[in-house]
Amino acid sequence: MEKILKQVEKKVLAVYKKVNPSTHKIESNDIFKYHQKFRESLFRDKLKFPLQMFDSAELLDFGSGTGEQDLFYAKWGANITGVEMNNLSVDRCKKLFKKYKLTEKLKIHNISLFDFKPNKKFDIVVSNGVLHHTNDQRAGFKKLVSYLRPRGFVFISVGNKAGAFQRNLQRMILYKLAKSEEEIVTLAKFLFKEHIDRAVKYGKRSADSIIYDSYVVPKADNASVEEILKWFDENNIKFYSSWPPLQFPFPLVDSPRNDIIDYTEKKYRKLLSFSEYFWMTANATDKEIINEYHKDLLPMNNLNKITDLIKDIGPDSVIKLEKFKEIENLDFNFNLERIYKKEINKISNFFKELKGLIYLLKNTKDIKKIKKEIDKNQFLFNGYCGQGDIYYMGYKE
Ligand SMILES: C[S@@+](CC[C@H](N)C(=O)[O-])C[C@H]1O[C@@H](n2cnc3c(N)ncnc32)[C@H](O)[C@@H]1O
Repeated sequence: MEKILKQVEKKVLAVYKKVNPSTHKIESNDIFKYHQKFRESLFRDKLKFPLQMFDSAELLDFGSGTGEQDLFYAKWGANITGVEMNNLSVDRCKKLFKKYKLTEKLKIHNISLFDFKPNKKFDIVVSNGVLHHTNDQRAGFKKLVSYLRPRGFVFISVGNKAGAFQRNLQRMILYKLAKSEEEIVTLAKFLFKEHIDRAVKYGKRSADSIIYDSYVVPKADNASVEEILKWFDENNIKFYSSWPPLQFPFPLVDSPRNDIIDYTEKKYRKLLSFSEYFWMTANATDKEIINEYHKDLLPMNNLNKITDLIKDIGPDSVIKLEKFKEIENLDFNFNLERIYKKEINKISNFFKELKGLIYLLKNTKDIKKIKKEIDKNQFLFNGYCGQGDIYYMGYKE
């Protein structure tokens, strides 16, 4: 087991030394601001973790990469202990902290996370985009949270098995057809151009960095929500938040005195695969989807017209019941049903296309034919190609 762990580590390191997966040109003011906005909103708005929590916190980062993420934690006041096996990344991280005059906030160790043995506990422990590139992510997580002090928070970002399904399929096609690393790169650029262009645009990483991190890297294991929640249980970590949120398919609430239904409770967890189906087949962002559905939802705007008929009623109100006639002419056809149907159809069409592609792959190695089939598809390998990494936060009780 230990031997395989080290072998995988060596192979992953060799790839990452060739093309670094984490470098962003953050020295440019625009790119710095872009990432700042994203990180701030991720923690404060999406994960509901106020940035003040970083102030003076001792923070441990497993697989800290070139330090771009840690730079923001340090700016928010945290003292960073980075653990990174790639010496080239460690050098870049030190330079980055020097440039931003934050050197005194950084301690960085050029070592495997599995060999790291600190002699203290931390307020916040993080690992962003790392565990799924190791041979034992469950052990990596266990080790990470073993250094968390009681009431401390853990933040991890890992690929979701369903969300990464399309990427795994891309990997399968590439590994089936390409005979060398060079061929993987060329073929990926040819077959999955749209996806890569999109990832460059939104992720602000180079195409090579994305190709090496998604396809060339020899290990990209991904965990389901259920598995992650199991790691949380095993280590006495309580689920705090995630992005995207875990929902089924919307939050159910009764009286405010009662707790909202917590789908992360063991007995409800299976329901969370509902979210995972959507992550698996996602090909557009929420904004794009809501714009498409906006027209179907327009009748909802009529609510005020109805409630205004009888608001603020008191002894002096002039009551005109004839006004209720207006309701007759209102359109209540929200068409939510159509929206749900469309979303569910998307899932079944996705599987139809998947079946077609697998059939083709079984019967041909003709790359042009495969490309034609991919381009023809509407749901598979289109746009977003599945929700990539999922962000989870938990705390130690
Ligand atoms: C995709 S990068 C993410 C880097 C950084 N956390 C970020 O979000 O920008 C994965 C990083 O994990 C590091 N890594 C992978 N396995 C590791 C291990 N066993 N020990 C230490 N670092 C590791 C890699 O060298 C690489 O820098």
